[in-house]
Amino acid sequence: MRYGPIAPELFIENRRRFRELLPPQSLAIFNANDILPTNADGTLALKQNNDLFYLSGVDQEESVLVICPDAALEKHREILFLRETSEHILVWEGYKLTKDEARAVSGVPTIMWLDALPAVLAALMNEAEYVYLNTNEHIRAVVEVETRDARFIQDLQRRYPLHQYRRAAKLLHQLRAIKSPEEIRLMRRACEITGNAFRRLLGFVKPGVWEYEVEAEILHEFVRSGSRGPAYGSIIGSGESATILHYVSNDRQCQAGDVLLLDFGAEYANYAADLSRSIPVSGTFSPRQRQVYEAVLRVFKFAKSRLIVGNHIEDYHKQVGEVMEQELINLDLLHGSDVKNQDPDAPLYKKYFPHGTSHYLGLDVHDVGYKYRKFEAGMVYTCEPGIYIREEKLGIRLENDILITPNGNEDLMADIPLEVADIERLMRK
Ligand code: GLY
Ligand code: MN
Ligand code: MN
Repeated sequence: MRYGPIAPELFIENRRRFRELLPPQSLAIFNANDILPTNADGTLALKQNNDLFYLSGVDQEESVLVICPDAALEKHREILFLRETSEHILVWEGYKLTKDEARAVSGVPTIMWLDALPAVLAALMNEAEYVYLNTNEHIRAVVEVETRDARFIQDLQRRYPLHQYRRAAKLLHQLRAIKSPEEIRLMRRACEITGNAFRRLLGFVKPGVWEYEVEAEILHEFVRSGSRGPAYGSIIGSGESATILHYVSNDRQCQAGDVLLLDFGAEYANYAADLSRSIPVSGTFSPRQRQVYEAVLRVFKFAKSRLIVGNHIEDYHKQVGEVMEQELINLDLLHGSDVKNQDPDAPLYKKYFPHGTSHYLGLDVHDVGYKYRKFEAGMVYTCEPGIYIREEKLGIRLENDILITPNGNEDLMADIPLEVADIERLMRK
């Protein structure tokens, strides 16, 4: 692995918290993600199933985690099944975990090779009443490709139609929403690497650079720091490209006078950072760009102050929307009288700020978690207001990652330049 060791206590504790949510006579089974094919004999790199990682720390394909707290045999209460390695696999694919290493990484006491799974599963299905299986229940997921978990579910339900099947995802959403100190440590590192890449860009961006050259700088900084790469496709949008929210073609040449919107984040140990900054290609904002930037920054600071224990995402978005509305009126983009008469279900500010202000962040960049749960200490949210004015070829978004604490919050990106004066000074250097 490129990242340093993670204390196995993280995964031991995650399993303990998961077990606490299970009724008696439960069996839970988690599969690794597939290595996805591309064309011919090509494949993508493995992106581990985040729930399996969360419960085991194992970053290897074809792994299966079984949790059966009431199993008659103690050795069956937690089992990790792994692909048995061989001299042939070593030569052709590289190093795979031994049983001892898997035990050390995960803290799971029983490690078996995959060929033992059918017999153990038959024994445990015989004991179990409730079977927890894993599906992707992210509210915005669009999954057309059948996952390993999905195939496993079909097969198991066909062979054992009379068990009571239950959703592991619901429990994982509950657990993963609250980050433990070890997870925060990993997320801090992802944020730190991301910040280093941003500082590097402040000395790199100038008129004439191509958006993909900027993307390459980010990639270089990430990979040399032990990140596997970006946690999501980097958005590098100059001028009018900045007004396209999910712009990823990154193939325009940056011009003097453009603002360049950067939205990128490192993955570190499977955890994501998610940063947005908007910088002047020439090194200095025009008065209008600066005016819009300062408006977004004020909304950002207000929104951040509302990411506190007890607030609710619906109220939060309403509070932020009202502040944004006033800023858009001051920028002459909305008229106060129109705002007064607007349909509250379709507020006018959405024309210039069409996305939400915050989402959960963690192993997934749009992390799992029940959306309508009140803010609690240990949750990490992004804070990312933006104003996009297509007719002015101008888009500005500012985004930091915020840990909610018992007494307020901590900005995990507090040291990444954000104020206009700092951005311009660092670009001049
Ligand atoms: N980069 C995706 C987002 O900001 O939500
Ligand atoms: Mn982002
Ligand atoms: Mn985001």
